[in-house]
Amino acid sequence: IDIKTLRSATGGMITLDPGYKNTGACESAITFLDGEKGILRYRGYSIEELAEKADFLEVAYLLIFGELPNKEQLEAFHVDIKNESHVDEEMKKILDAFPKSAHPMGVLSSLTSALIAFNPISVNVTSKDEMYGAIVRIMAKFPVLVAWTLRKKKGLPLDYGDDELGYVENIHKMMFKRPSQEYKRNKIVIDALDQLLILHADHEQNCSTSTVRIVGSSHAGLFASLSAGISALWGPLHGGANQAVLEMLEAIEADGGDTKKYMAKAKDKNDPFRLMGFGHRVYKNFDPRAKIIKKAAEEVLGDLGIEDPILEIAKGLAKEALEDEYFVKRKLYPNVDFYSGIIYRALGIPTEMFTVMFALGRLPGWIAQWREMRLRSEPIGRPRQIYIGENQRPFVEVDKR
Ligand code: ACO
Repeated sequence: IDIKTLRSATGGMITLDPGYKNTGACESAITFLDGEKGILRYRGYSIEELAEKADFLEVAYLLIFGELPNKEQLEAFHVDIKNESHVDEEMKKILDAFPKSAHPMGVLSSLTSALIAFNPISVNVTSKDEMYGAIVRIMAKFPVLVAWTLRKKKGLPLDYGDDELGYVENIHKMMFKRPSQEYKRNKIVIDALDQLLILHADHEQNCSTSTVRIVGSSHAGLFASLSAGISALWGPLHGGANQAVLEMLEAIEADGGDTKKYMAKAKDKNDPFRLMGFGHRVYKNFDPRAKIIKKAAEEVLGDLGIEDPILEIAKGLAKEALEDEYFVKRKLYPNVDFYSGIIYRALGIPTEMFTVMFALGRLPGWIAQWREMRLRSEPIGRPRQIYIGENQRPFVEVDKR
């Protein structure tokens, strides 16, 4: 039928691919992913090597600018970020207006958008230098917003960072420093956080990244594009899965901690329950990030001497699943979200903040994708559709309907 035949402006056919499962939207030189082989590389460097040898700021520089920085470049990047780390005091009033119960992802997305009003210079950037200015501004201010979002939730006074500290340590201090208590550095915690952020830093064209690119393609500006990306990440089918894992573990504990019962539920085809944090759409053999993070989780829990029934339940589930025929046959392994939630909890981060931590890690990836899209002068994103509604019909006056 005519209405189902859609032709492009050039006369060619248009593909219908809901969810863009098989449609490439861009060419990109940032992240390579092979789901069958479990390979993830940023700019050609394996995630395993980067997680072991690099720190988050180096990885951010690599993703955004394409090469690992030398010492001077890294130092200059860090200094430029530190010089932009103030957030206008007026922004505190906006944060103040949110109820304490507001979801941190909604708060973070709103604050990121509000930043535009206080940094209009970052909006219409086109040259590489202007882009650099906008990038260091958001790399500097975003962690402050993340820390403020957490502190508001916990009822703690808002604060700024400490220029003497490294990028990630400063984030940790901004989040957790208690008034009238000295901040104590814990290398294990900082290293674990650094690694978690690296593992989340980019993952090619997923829902939030594609959102950042498509919003940016209208030349809406970096901060507006990021704010949209944060909203996309919020959903439980995307970044919100790490929160869902912990909520599942808490529910199992509240129900007596019987992991076998929940394993059986997950295998029961008449029960919609799934083990959250197991399986992955792209990684079908293993999630390379999960392997790295599992080790980090064991180290953090061991070193911090944490005994937590929730964590015991998590370990039990992972062990049982690895030995269970149903899970082995379907190649359902714990994914990155399974272990990230466990570490975040061990670090004292409230469950509702988990997706915010994901956003913090994903920030350089989003920035890199936005910059690449602008530098390649990509056209505005404008998908087509196949119209399935009514054909032409005459208008009927309201009293005759
Ligand atoms: N628990 C129990 N069974 C599962 C699970 C699970 N977590 N995941 C998949 N299965 C089963 C399915 O029931 C299906 O079984 P069948 O072949 O007998 O019908 C089989 O494994 C294949 O499952 P699909 O849904 O076809 O796999 P798909 O690739 O579409 O889904 C997904 C991947 C969505 C991640 C899925 O594994 C899932 O829902 N996992 C739990 C949610 C989760 O952890 N999401 C986070 C993903 S990681 C990330 O986003 C960063």
